Amino acid sequence: MSYPFKILNQSTSTIQSGRVGWRCPSNIAIVKYWGKHGRQLPRNASLSLTLSNAHTDTYISYKGNKGGKLSISFLFEGEANRAFEDKIKKFLDSVLDHYPVLNLLHLDISSSNSFPHSSGIASSASAMAAIAMCICEIDQVISGNGSETIDIHKASYLARLGSGSASRSVISKLGAWGTHAEIHDSSDLYAVAVADVHEVFHSFHDDILIVSAAEKSVSSTAGHALMNGNVYAKPRYQQANDRISELKKILKSGDVDAFGKLAEDEAMTLHALMMCSDPSYVLMEPGTLDIIREIRNYRLETNTPIYFTLDAGPNIHVLYPDSVKEDAESFINQVLVPYTANGRVIKDIVGNGPKKLV
Ligand code: PMV
Repeated sequence: MSYPFKILNQSTSTIQSGRVGWRCPSNIAIVKYWGKHGRQLPRNASLSLTLSNAHTDTYISYKGNKGGKLSISFLFEGEANRAFEDKIKKFLDSVLDHYPVLNLLHLDISSSNSFPHSSGIASSASAMAAIAMCICEIDQVISGNGSETIDIHKASYLARLGSGSASRSVISKLGAWGTHAEIHDSSDLYAVAVADVHEVFHSFHDDILIVSAAEKSVSSTAGHALMNGNVYAKPRYQQANDRISELKKILKSGDVDAFGKLAEDEAMTLHALMMCSDPSYVLMEPGTLDIIREIRNYRLETNTPIYFTLDAGPNIHVLYPDSVKEDAESFINQVLVPYTANGRVIKDIVGNGPKKLV
């Protein structure tokens, strides 16, 4: 697939220096992306809630370099971090075809998360989205195309190349990535905003219960790759696309119970796919299953619309509408928190996407 955006060229022979900064949130997929091909293209469409409190702040100071080759330094939470620096450098080197201006620059990048790095929360979505916003702005400024409006689809395209789910983190409120007949303007190349959404989903809560902060035994990259040999892959991709159609109707109607059921079904499907991969693996922990049981029992007993979803890890995302906030919080504190690692909960809610910091 050819690159759908204009490649900008540097307009002057002297590169001016400057500084940009962007805050980008994490997101939680309701219909999951699991399985990819080519240059980070999804096997099925996915749809997520953009969060607000779990975010990454990234600042980049840029200046002209002398060697004609991109160079960077990287600080994570104020300290040098070689592993992250190598990852970011590799990512930026891989997008030089779309951003040739990078080869004229030295970038001092500093990044920090609002949530503890060791919390078991994947930060790649917010981190890659924040870097993408910064790079798009630098590219525009240097080419003389201004800095005011960033083309959000172009930023999403770049974020996607860093981490697939990051493509959705630049979209306000609800984002969808992957071509789907019922999502207007949808594309495998970048995420788009989801239209026709009932307002109940604009203030939906996602409280993240940290069951384990340990590093995952199987990375997302390895997990996506295992879908290639999974006998259920084909029906799964079809199911995900059907579920997007179903979810689109639910989002329009505001049916919270149907939304919660679909979110839970997707979480269980994702983990079932991992368990029936070859080799098989399990990312849920005993505490994950305890919390799932408690949520289901509580819902049965009280009829309160509290649901869960999971990412590729053991931590539980508790989903509920703002109207039951008080009940949900006391249930979480009294019943669910004892199953977490040291009482760790990240309270989050649907948010508005990227925020310019500089
Ligand atoms: O963006 P990646 O490659 O880390 O994959 C993330 C996949 C899930 O988080 C499990 C699902 C999703 O759509 O975000």
